[in-house]
Amino acid sequence: MVKVLFVCLGNICRSPTAEGVFRAVVRAHGLEEIIEVDSAGTHAYHIGEAPDARAQAAAVRRGIDLSELRGRQATRCDIESFDFILAMDRENLKYLRALSPPGQEQKIRLFLEFAPARPEREVPDPYFGGESGFDRVLDMVEEAAIGLLEHIQRERL
Ligand code: 4NP
Repeated sequence: MVKVLFVCLGNICRSPTAEGVFRAVVRAHGLEEIIEVDSAGTHAYHIGEAPDARAQAAAVRRGIDLSELRGRQATRCDIESFDFILAMDRENLKYLRALSPPGQEQKIRLFLEFAPARPEREVPDPYFGGESGFDRVLDMVEEAAIGLLEHIQRERL
């Protein structure tokens, strides 16, 4: 089993989008019994909430349903138990590294490392912006999700 956790600030926009997209990629390759996928936030603001309506609408336009996901906060235990902890931006990365038990920090990376052809290394927070920000998140996340699956297939399976 390979366990993947996506992390952003609120766990209602970027990381549930990444979870939904990566789940779809994993399912399309018939690997859902082998790769476990989850998401969490660094902050507690949106615990128990469904993803932001704008994130859900943007995902539905690409055939992805996020409606069953619920916000939760990342814990130290998550860092112990997941193999890949993928931060959406450098703030999330810094927070997770500080939360990490000693010796586990190498599991925590920027998600966009897996989209090396893109110029960006951070998925920008779409929360305070317009609809187009959510489509941009999906463009980035779709590319990195494919790169991540290829990496896992190469290194872990
Ligand atoms: P996310 O977006 O980190 O992609 O889920 C945000 C959601 C909520 C807030 C900030 C970012 N907030 O400040 O409540």
